[in-house]
Amino acid sequence: MDEEFIYLDNAATTWPKPPEVQKAVADCLVRQGANPGRSSHRMSLEAERIIEETRFLLARFFNAPSPDHVIFTLNCTDSLNMALKGLLHPGDRVITGPYEHNSVIRPLRRLERKGVSVSVIRGTRDFCLDLAYCYQVARQGVDLAVMSHASNVTGCTQPVREMAEAVHEMGGVFILDAAQTAGRVKIDMEEMGIDILAAPGHKGLYGPMGTGILVLGRNIDIEPFREGGTGFRSEDEMQPLDLPWHLEAGTPNLPGIAGLRAAIRFIQKVSIEEISRKETEMARTLYEALRGIPGVRLFCPPEGPKNGIVSFTIDGCDVSLAGTILDQVFGIGVRTGLHCAPQAHKSIGTFPSGTIRASFGYFNTFEHVERLVSAVRQIAARSPGITSSTGSSSAPLNSYNSSRLPKSTS
Ligand code: ALA
Repeated sequence: MDEEFIYLDNAATTWPKPPEVQKAVADCLVRQGANPGRSSHRMSLEAERIIEETRFLLARFFNAPSPDHVIFTLNCTDSLNMALKGLLHPGDRVITGPYEHNSVIRPLRRLERKGVSVSVIRGTRDFCLDLAYCYQVARQGVDLAVMSHASNVTGCTQPVREMAEAVHEMGGVFILDAAQTAGRVKIDMEEMGIDILAAPGHKGLYGPMGTGILVLGRNIDIEPFREGGTGFRSEDEMQPLDLPWHLEAGTPNLPGIAGLRAAIRFIQKVSIEEISRKETEMARTLYEALRGIPGVRLFCPPEGPKNGIVSFTIDGCDVSLAGTILDQVFGIGVRTGLHCAPQAHKSIGTFPSGTIRASFGYFNTFEHVERLVSAVRQIAARSPGITSSTGSSSAPLNSYNSSRLPKSTS
């Protein structure tokens, strides 16, 4: 990657990965790349040890009942699909939040066609779940609830404990989609009443892409849709009932899991509190600066960001054009549009165009914030929808003040 490029898309995946994660993946490919748990030779045993140690670290990290309750998946979407499709049956009643990602909404819409009923709880003006309405709907009966911990669009954190309690009172199961919070916020499954936790390994956990986890609480019985070799009870033609093999089949992503093991150790060394403090401070600095730019509208918690996500629009400037200018002229990478969460954008009033989203990670700096603020100021000043001191409504690329543009010779 261009050394000058500023990566502000950490809600999509964190980048760069910590040096120890990069090394762990490379070491695994060079030294430990045998098939784990399948053979009794030393390389296969070492590979198995990496997997089991990672399971152990993750179980402790999220306070799961045991390492066997940690299932390795492809990503958070895979985890959510496994849980929803493996638990729900025709006639079951589901409630879900107003800001869900397509990884929740799409499986639910498919299940709806098979006779599952889905109620979407509305949001408040503060981009939060309407709890009173949630209690009202839950009291009519609920078998399962699934909700994102923090919206990938606004960054607003949702009332997990309250939602879990409402569902448990009716005997239902509570699934938390921790796509944006795992590794960034302390999550204690037992204390927060989470029956099933779905999380990506490659976002706030700082592991490689292709890693995800599904963590089960006690007494959760998910029907597997992926069956096959486990290296365990091979004589049985049925998938073993024992966890984790009940839900894991086929050769796992060993290099990814080796990277994830190093990533969890990295987070433990730095601490969740420090990572969260740094990301939030950068987001708050950006938020305060953007508030002062005419034509910029922010879509964040009313009291300002509480994590690394800042969503905004610039009056008169199409969000994808803004994203292209940020990339091409200023060398800044953000995500624009609907962020795979059309429902969240409908709830906050930014559908169908979406927003521009900057998202910070541990390796960003305050200089990155300043560079983004300066770029947005220039784009807003040249956008036709607002009156600017320059009065310019067209914005040829060379009208921007950016070191990335070739200097004019005229
Ligand atoms: N869900 C990811 C995002 O928010 C990819 O960008």
